Amino acid sequence: MSIISVPQEFNQDDLYVDLQSIFGRQLFLKCEGFNFAGSVKLKAANEMVEAAERSGVLRPGSVLVESSSGNLGVALSIIAASKGYGFRCVTDSRCNLATRLLMEALGSEVHVVTEPDPETGYLGARLNYVRSLCASDKRYVWLNQYTNDNAWKAHYRTTGPAIARRFPELDVLFVGAGTTGTLMGCARYFKERHPSVRIVAIDPVGSVSFGTPAARRMLPGLGMNVRPPLLDEGYVDEVLHVQEADAIRTCHRLARRGFLFGGSTGTVVSGAMRWLARHDARDLTAVAIAPDLGERYLDTIYQSNWVQDLYGDDVLGDDVLDTRSTAARAA
Ligand SMILES: Cc1ncc(COP(=O)(O)O)c(C=O)c1O
Repeated sequence: MSIISVPQEFNQDDLYVDLQSIFGRQLFLKCEGFNFAGSVKLKAANEMVEAAERSGVLRPGSVLVESSSGNLGVALSIIAASKGYGFRCVTDSRCNLATRLLMEALGSEVHVVTEPDPETGYLGARLNYVRSLCASDKRYVWLNQYTNDNAWKAHYRTTGPAIARRFPELDVLFVGAGTTGTLMGCARYFKERHPSVRIVAIDPVGSVSFGTPAARRMLPGLGMNVRPPLLDEGYVDEVLHVQEADAIRTCHRLARRGFLFGGSTGTVVSGAMRWLARHDARDLTAVAIAPDLGERYLDTIYQSNWVQDLYGDDVLGDDVLDTRSTAARAA
């Protein structure tokens, strides 16, 4: 039994789903969505806030400001509410409605940027807005998840060791790349402590993080329009790019077996299954990280109109759209 007095104290760090029965290949999916923020970003948020408190940058009366596509914003909303700080989240029009409402329910102020910067896109426009806010008031503190080393240190300290403890024989680890905090923390930990573990980064097609060309991306969480400052490719063995349509198909396949995950999990699982299919993976121990759960995406990834408008009528395929029960299909 756990008894807590502040929301950020609770995090389920030891839950894995074996995907063998769904995809026919063994992959242990580490679920990071079981905490009060509903995502892996609680770890980075906690570590960044605590470091800022220790250094004296964050003090009573401070107001946090951050650019987030959603999940870090929710995590910071929870921590700010619990510790008595203000919080202004700067996001853009791709942020899910549910995520925005969640932040507001927790007492945060949400600024939605509606026009992308002509050169640096929505992220650039968000960062410009954050800079102008910070210049306007001395109480504002920007932790900057894109450059803050504490974001990756959170995973070096917790996620990497938790996986190594549970899977001492680990061969390959699949991690999605957003700001690359999760990727770099895990990669640094394994390269230092268990260097035989292969680190495979999963990036959406259209992200420029690993030098590939920019293109439209609609799923929040993974991928960047600028190169992530935290990324050091020297720690990454391989990079796989995944189409958003494949990620969505994978999400629906999981959902039809009762596992409702977010789009970044669909991306990582899709890439991991492709990698496992290409390698002789029968005797390999493989783990992938699932950053959040699916409820925040009910009006996007899990809405057939939204999916078909963006990715075409056939994107989900018959097996996914067939909603009849197994017994009915067999009859
Ligand atoms: C749903 C989701 N998946 C993946 C990530 C990527 O994590 P990181 O920024 O540590 O690369 C994020 C980051 O916000 C996220 O919200």
